Amino acid sequence: EAPIRVGLLGAGTVGSQTARLLVEQRDELSARTGRPIELVGVACLDPSKVDAPWIDKALLTTDTAGLCQRADIVVELIGGLEPARTFVLTAIEAGASVVTANKALLAKFGPELYQAADERGVDIYFEAAVGGAIPLVRPLRESLVGDRVSSMLGIVNGTTNYILDEMTTKGLDFEVALNDAQAKGYAEADPTGDIEGEDAANKAAIMATLAFHTATSIDDVTVEGITSITADDIAAATAEHKVVKLLAVVENGEAGVSARVYPALIDENHPLASVHGSFNAVFVHAEAADDLMFYGRGAGGAPTASAVVGDIVTEARHIAQGCTGPSIPLYKDLPKAPIDAS
Ligand code: HSE
Repeated sequence: EAPIRVGLLGAGTVGSQTARLLVEQRDELSARTGRPIELVGVACLDPSKVDAPWIDKALLTTDTAGLCQRADIVVELIGGLEPARTFVLTAIEAGASVVTANKALLAKFGPELYQAADERGVDIYFEAAVGGAIPLVRPLRESLVGDRVSSMLGIVNGTTNYILDEMTTKGLDFEVALNDAQAKGYAEADPTGDIEGEDAANKAAIMATLAFHTATSIDDVTVEGITSITADDIAAATAEHKVVKLLAVVENGEAGVSARVYPALIDENHPLASVHGSFNAVFVHAEAADDLMFYGRGAGGAPTASAVVGDIVTEARHIAQGCTGPSIPLYKDLPKAPIDAS
């Protein structure tokens, strides 16, 4: 039977691990799909720099647009807005489905891309964009679609959680902990967005969009990162039996939808206080479901690749069955709460 062709854009921390899972688990993934899943190309800027022995060198290409044209599923792991947005649109226009982990792209242009995919009759899946390995996007998009989600609150950036945790538990300096987080593959290529809260804000925008069925962009999120947190702040928190955590909070209240990211003091007995290292945790409140909690590794190559490959298999099954997944229709008329400047 004709294989389902997967084109991978990007061979960095997540891309190389995604390729590893696709190559090493090819037979299992194909069996679960009912059709062979075949990695047909890995696009990157400089093939000589790819450090992934499981990738057949013949698959490496710099012709990203060309790969978008010859794949059934395009997996965008380049990150950033451009050229990622152009390639995703190229893939959709060519009739390929898209899997992406790109939170910055979705927080800025998500609704446009969801609509483009819908109109072309293809899917866009992005489980890895929020909470790494944690199933969170699909529960919001599918499991909870029959309920009214009113709020979500949690830790959605592994790098800052790792830094704050190392500062708290080992007394490490901010810079040392940040370097460790980079070495472990938690941080973005440019970690500024992690420590200044933008990465968490991107995820907050995506969560609010899915949870409240209304377009919420990164520009709607109030953001404060952790760059001003000092060792003295951490020591003062510890003395008061509290921990500092970077929180993302999205709400759909009487005033409308609001989203914010800020460092908060949490009581040491609160469940979020025991979220260590690169783990993330998100609480969801919905009218009928009541309280839900999602927990797991929120960053790192292999955990994030787990979510990416889950999306690839999900989409491959749709292709094998000749169907598509649920679209993401958004209300136009939900008001935005006034941005709280405090
Ligand atoms: N840099 C991100 C983080 C990666 O630290 O959470 C996962 O999105």
